[in-house]
Amino acid sequence: MAAGKGTRLKSKHPKVLHEVGGKPILAHVVTSATKVIPAQDVFAVIGHEADRVRQAVAHTGVNFVVQAEQRGTGHALMVAREALAPYDQVIVLSGDAPLISPETIQKLRDFHGINHSSMTILSAQLEDPTGYGRVIRKSKGKPEVKAIVEEKSATPAQRKLREINSGFYAFDAKVLFKHIDELSNDNPHGEFYLTDMAAILGKAKKRVVAVMATDPNEILGSNTRAEMVEIDQHMRMAKCRQLMANGVTIFYPQSCVIDCDVEIGADTVIEPFVQILGNTRIGSDCRIRSYTVISNSVIADGVSILPACVLDGAQVLKGATVGPYSRLRPGSEIGEGAHVGNFVETKKTRMGKGSKANHLTYLGDAEIGAGVNIGAGTITCNYDGAHKHTTVIEDGVFIGSDSTLVAPVKVGQGAYVAAASCITDDVPSDSLAVARARQIVKEGWVNAKRASREKS
Ligand code: UD1
Ligand code: CA
Repeated sequence: MAAGKGTRLKSKHPKVLHEVGGKPILAHVVTSATKVIPAQDVFAVIGHEADRVRQAVAHTGVNFVVQAEQRGTGHALMVAREALAPYDQVIVLSGDAPLISPETIQKLRDFHGINHSSMTILSAQLEDPTGYGRVIRKSKGKPEVKAIVEEKSATPAQRKLREINSGFYAFDAKVLFKHIDELSNDNPHGEFYLTDMAAILGKAKKRVVAVMATDPNEILGSNTRAEMVEIDQHMRMAKCRQLMANGVTIFYPQSCVIDCDVEIGADTVIEPFVQILGNTRIGSDCRIRSYTVISNSVIADGVSILPACVLDGAQVLKGATVGPYSRLRPGSEIGEGAHVGNFVETKKTRMGKGSKANHLTYLGDAEIGAGVNIGAGTITCNYDGAHKHTTVIEDGVFIGSDSTLVAPVKVGQGAYVAAASCITDDVPSDSLAVARARQIVKEGWVNAKRASREKS
């Protein structure tokens, strides 16, 4: 169920598209669901901003049912009736509870099967049950459930119950759809509550049971910004713990932001205040120093990222060193053992093995060979105001400091460019290009000037 607006978030974006752990909330639920049930048997009920929600998870191969008007969780299932009719069993997942694990979905499904029940509710014991529906068991310690009462309709005694309804259920499909029209919207929200099925099926002498989630955190729903942040923190700490269990050192994990799809190899060290986002993969034996932000990048083994670097869509090969204060933009490929130093920006640039650009440089749309030395303050002038052009710097080239390379231009293998040159024409291999005004020295000029000043 993912059709709701998420009124309590006060957002113009649908609730299930808000991100936790670096991914839309709904994407997490879909990932867990499709580990238990094949995507072609998963149906997402969408409604509010349906197109955007559909787009966000379409790649997973799940199906969609549109609930044009969102008249409650019970109504969401009424709308899905036709799509679900061919199935014997329906598992209902709340699209706004992203911590749910495949194991817990499986547990719900197994418990449902073993108990031959018509409705099985996944419940949890919470320290603070405020806001959730409460599970009213027929008698203490027994699996049978009499009803679920929503917080707004609960009596003070019922509100004291700490066993809550997770919003995840398993149903016998035939029984569910036989009785679903008995739901009414006569309640404080004027909605059709799926939770009312517990009492309806109970009255029809059907078996309704609850099974408790082992980890109550898994069922946390994200109705408010505060709840989302809490879920995000749970997810990221779990991610750090998983990485540490696999051999990654993370100093001060509370200060790091690591998205849930990130992969990091053993013996890599992550220093405090680092962000590693999106589909980033980092090899083993790397060190990522503080204040670095890496998104959607691939970093090989033995790489050093010094403090305060920004990498986005970059690739860094084995043993390279980057930073401090480097910015690698999309399409940057830093070769094996290469060095990119402070205040160097690269974009769509390939740098060969062992090449160095250590200081204050812009390299955009450049093809740089191996063993190249790029002097401080070098700039590739890649943009003529309308189009981008390529600079080619072949193996073993030495670019003197403060040079500008006006693309399209090529510096041939082994050539030297003198400091402060403005290179507008290709430089042949093994030659020296000097493209600057020759120095003039006027000997005695200062004395002459002083003398003329004294006269006047
Ligand atoms: C629901 C349960 C509550 C439970 C809690 C657990 C009901 C009436 N209450 O409350 O007992 O403790 O979940 O988190 O079910 N949705 C639709 N269509 C709709 C309405 C909602 O698809 O017409 C979707 C929402 O997008 C959301 C999910 O269903 O993903 C749950 O709806 P929400 O409004 O968050 O229910 P809660 O108030 O949290
Ligand atoms: Ca909710």
